[in-house]
Amino acid sequence: MKNFVILISFLVLANLSVQAQTSLTFIGNAKTVDHTPGMVTVHAENGSVRVELISKNIFRYRASQSGVFTEAVSYAIVNPPSGKPQYNFTEELESITLSTSRMKIIIAKNPVRVTVYDPQGNIMNQDEPAFGVTFDGKEVRSYKTLFDDESFFGLGEKAHNLGRRNNQYTLWNSDTPAYKFGADPLYVSTPFFIGVRGGSAYGIYFDNSYKSYFNFGASNNRFYWFGAEQGEMDYYYIAGPAIRDVVSTYTTMTGLMELPPMWALGFQQSRWSYYPESRVREIASEFRKRDIPCDVIYLDIHYMDGYRVFTWDKERFPDPQKLLADLKAQGFKVVTIIDPGVKADTNYAVAREGLAGDHFAKYPDGIPYQGEVWPSWSFFPDFTKKETRTWWGGYLGNLLKQGIAGFWNDMNEPAVWGQVFPDIVMFNDEGKISSHKKIHNVYALKMAEATKDAIYQHSNNRHLVVTRAGFSGIQRYSSVWTGDNVSSWDHLRLALYMPLSMGLTGMSFTGSDVGGFIGTPTPDLFTRWLQLGAFTPFYRAHAEINSPDKEPWTYGEKHEKLNREAIKLRYRILPHLYNELYQSSVSGLPVMRAMFLEYQSDPETMKEQAFDQFMFGDQVLVAPVLYENDVKKQVYFPKGKWYGLHSGEVITSNGELITVQAPLEEIPYFLKEGGFFVTREPQQYVGEKKADELEVTVFPAVRSSYTLYQDDGITREYQKGNFSLTRFTADYDADALILNVRKEKGEFQSEVKTYLLKIAHMDDKGSVQMNGKELVKSAIPADTKAGMYHYDHYHRQLLIRVPADQPVSIKIQ
Ligand code: GLC
Repeated sequence: MKNFVILISFLVLANLSVQAQTSLTFIGNAKTVDHTPGMVTVHAENGSVRVELISKNIFRYRASQSGVFTEAVSYAIVNPPSGKPQYNFTEELESITLSTSRMKIIIAKNPVRVTVYDPQGNIMNQDEPAFGVTFDGKEVRSYKTLFDDESFFGLGEKAHNLGRRNNQYTLWNSDTPAYKFGADPLYVSTPFFIGVRGGSAYGIYFDNSYKSYFNFGASNNRFYWFGAEQGEMDYYYIAGPAIRDVVSTYTTMTGLMELPPMWALGFQQSRWSYYPESRVREIASEFRKRDIPCDVIYLDIHYMDGYRVFTWDKERFPDPQKLLADLKAQGFKVVTIIDPGVKADTNYAVAREGLAGDHFAKYPDGIPYQGEVWPSWSFFPDFTKKETRTWWGGYLGNLLKQGIAGFWNDMNEPAVWGQVFPDIVMFNDEGKISSHKKIHNVYALKMAEATKDAIYQHSNNRHLVVTRAGFSGIQRYSSVWTGDNVSSWDHLRLALYMPLSMGLTGMSFTGSDVGGFIGTPTPDLFTRWLQLGAFTPFYRAHAEINSPDKEPWTYGEKHEKLNREAIKLRYRILPHLYNELYQSSVSGLPVMRAMFLEYQSDPETMKEQAFDQFMFGDQVLVAPVLYENDVKKQVYFPKGKWYGLHSGEVITSNGELITVQAPLEEIPYFLKEGGFFVTREPQQYVGEKKADELEVTVFPAVRSSYTLYQDDGITREYQKGNFSLTRFTADYDADALILNVRKEKGEFQSEVKTYLLKIAHMDDKGSVQMNGKELVKSAIPADTKAGMYHYDHYHRQLLIRVPADQPVSIKIQ
């Protein structure tokens, strides 16, 4: 024991001497405490700590070495909850306590450390007792106790599966072509993570745009930490216990997505690059000729004159307006790539105007920075300046006038040939003047803001913006795709894990380059990717310049048929997908959900076994095939009954792994007990055919309900309330099944005339009544008119066709 004490004393002394030789500083003991409504500021020996209650389940923590808290403007937080929460405050000799109905925060004074408890008195999060917050030169860090039972998720786009424990990650937007599984950092930085202990969750959003690091116990078993190279230790703590609430709160604070136009959910085809225009026309015609649905064709960098943004190559595209009009007549929209680099060419109007208007990022001596990218030496617009965003938007407006439907922002990390953008370059930062170190991670966010605003300014319709880089809050302007992936099975898995993780940090409208950007997929890989893509909100195939053709018909007749079916499946499920995106736009929850978002109380869903599948909204479990040659899949089914939407079988699970069949032509997907699933007849492109009828499959439980959102799919009228909500409910007991369909909100007049209710796994009980009247049974489903029913013995399904324009109550007994 004596030796141990000597050893510890030696270590403490050694530690102090280390401290004396470096600039590493701990916050120290409290000297004075200020309490103003909702806020406690502790002035300590080596800095100040401030805890501000934002709501009953959110507090903001700030630490400042100088003791001064500037009015820092957040790039991400646009909707902080307003209204001060009710709380109790007590101060004792050694500590201060702030408690609300959802959390208790104890600030120890000597030294200053914060511990957060849940209402049951469990510790959810704790500053590491010895270290807490540290300052080291300009670097700030927060050390937290690492609990044995703690799991971590979050940080959005990471080339990894969902679990973050035992790893360290860097947030620094990076151009990473052909990134490998585990490569870090990637294109998007979202400094938000979720900790889960004993089934309860909390979230931390670190509001700092500098290069930051998150270490979740990588090679240490004592603490986890996060920090940044510069800027403030400034974070928002969001109390759970539900992961769903934490995610929803984070997303709402950083800005909800707006509904995309329905066509943006159709299939999209890209390659670097389709040119000249005859090739673009050929691709469009192939889709129609082969009866493969498609809504969007992309123009990559070769449409421009020498890669000069906002120009057209006159030889390749002599009459863009005519081309765009012709494609429009075939039901296609065209999206162009937009790179921020403006060729430094004095004969080029955009460069001249940019220089004249002072729109480019510059060195401290006022000389505009030039970096090398596609057009060679280029200027970089300073999107942190309002005038520059408007200026840029004017050019985008011209493209919109010509008939371009959306924009694909690329190389916006900003990338300079994988080289280094100098830190000494200055940005306006809305008048504050900040260096590249602070702006780098938010450059794409501000470019996306300019892009969305331009579309809104020039059109009454919704927007499609796609971006490669981004920061927390990017969802309010843009969808995000996962960059330059590879045609490999590893990357097919990443095409699931990455959107799932991005969904935990606000981004719902996401997807990968289907088929893989770099390399050549095997025919099976391409098909499996299209199948997963059918359930991925952003659904686009893309291919690198040197890769062979990668269109859905490239791989021979057999695969063309499978690929057509996968894409048609997407068009069938569009009403359901659209509904889920509507949910994202109001709740901030993603369409593609990690299983634990829906089944948090089941610890099995936090293990790797459950990461190869996902919930598509809250009703449907999707189990894509992710490994070569697999024709079966082990699926983790949370406890309950599941109805195979493809197979028609019912699976009863006790919370276990169950093997399901998954031949190449099939992506297994299942409706939960009590779930509803809404589909329509497929079409070649959105708007080709009216949906006179929607099919609503229901797998009734004792009590279940679903709300279907509908609007015009294109304008922003829904923001003024022009939409409808239809509520479906099912109540099932031993005697009868009662199904009700009722409009809850009906401003929007939908084209849908009838619903075909498909009641799964149901016996023919002999009597079906609608609004009290006995229905006639039809022998043939196709002959079933509104107000008739049919029983399908083979599938054990009851089909009832009901009018969509009036309340309906069905009783089956
Ligand atoms: C970047 C993009 C890729 C694009 C290429 C050419 O690598 O990530 O999608 O095709 O640039 O513009």
